[in-house]
Amino acid sequence: MFTYKKRLLSNLNKSCGNYLTPCVIFLFLFSASVAFAQDAGKKVFETKCYSCHSIGGGDKQGPDLKGVTTRRSKEWLEEYIKSPTAMSKKDPYAAALFKKYSPEVMADQTLSQEEMDAVINMIKTLSANNEIFVPSGAKLSRAIEPNDYLEGWKLFTGQKRFENGGVSCNSCHSVRGLGSFGGGTLGPNLTAVNVKYSDPELILILQEPNFPTMTKMFKDHKLNDEEIVQLVAYLQNAKAVNPEAPVVKTVPSGTIEPRFLVVGFLAAILVVVGFNLVIWRNRHSNVRRDIVEEAKYEELD
Ligand code: HEC
Ligand code: HEC
Repeated sequence: MFTYKKRLLSNLNKSCGNYLTPCVIFLFLFSASVAFAQDAGKKVFETKCYSCHSIGGGDKQGPDLKGVTTRRSKEWLEEYIKSPTAMSKKDPYAAALFKKYSPEVMADQTLSQEEMDAVINMIKTLSANNEIFVPSGAKLSRAIEPNDYLEGWKLFTGQKRFENGGVSCNSCHSVRGLGSFGGGTLGPNLTAVNVKYSDPELILILQEPNFPTMTKMFKDHKLNDEEIVQLVAYLQNAKAVNPEAPVVKTVPSGTIEPRFLVVGFLAAILVVVGFNLVIWRNRHSNVRRDIVEEAKYEELD
């Protein structure tokens, strides 16, 4: 072990000459900074682009960005990302994109130069390695509890106000079964939104909505962690039902959720197992008592 270390050091010494220490420090900083830049790029992409773009996962609201760094120059990309609409007025390629994806529009993105470099490099690296962008996974601040569904419904329909003053979701969105609370049509119907997006994606949309209309609405009125838990609980329930099915109920009431059935079933099993355990233990101690008694008699004999 020791000789191995020595050999490693002397090898390093050979390639670094007399500058062993500075060389090692440089290598360390270099690899750390590469990893850091990748992380920075992923963070920008996850919070600012991922709701509309994938890298290698297919088109979403916007085109799949895999390989875009080989199709376009870095200068073009920078200018485009900063102001896509302006570009579509002068650049034929951008104009064609704009037309193809209409009515979806990419809003101007305000990125610092570091963020711009980081995100473009990240797209380039993933594309070159044939890797798909996987979000780090937005998480809820706590587990969902049974009552959250109802609270989420109240928030969604504006019966309960958002702490930071955001507009209630049903001003722009409808969900099957909203009934008399109605729902707006500016945004898409969200009944099957939890089929369309995975849970982390949905959570991310609520944490950092970056659809132009919603960004504007919630930029200065962020949803808090509790509200996000409750809204996700509400939207999750939409997944359980067939979005095509006719509207049956207008108000979420005391229906038995599958979750409760499962809990009830498990509780029943526990009771049975526990009961058997008690009987078994008693029986066991009976047997023991018999043995002990027998032993006593043997001693007496
Ligand atoms: C609201 C959705 C949305 C967001 C957020 C968004 N984009 Fe877009 N993006 C689009 C759409 C839609 C297009 C197609 C052009 C159009 O209609 O504006 C597009 C086009 C592009 C293109 C050109 C693609 C090609 O094939 O040439 C690039 C590059 C791009 N976006 C990068 C980004 C980056 C980087 C971010 C994050 C900083 C981002 N976009 C955020 C929707 C979005
Ligand atoms: C001012 C109107 C407005 C309000 C208020 C609003 N949204 Fe949206 N939302 C939109 C629009 C418009 C889109 C679609 C953007 C697009 O597809 O480019 C959208 C998209 C979404 C999506 C993605 C839907 C999909 O099919 O891709 C989700 C999820 C969502 N909103 C949830 C919410 C929730 C939850 C609230 C309440 C906290 C809310 N929105 C409040 C306008 C709004």
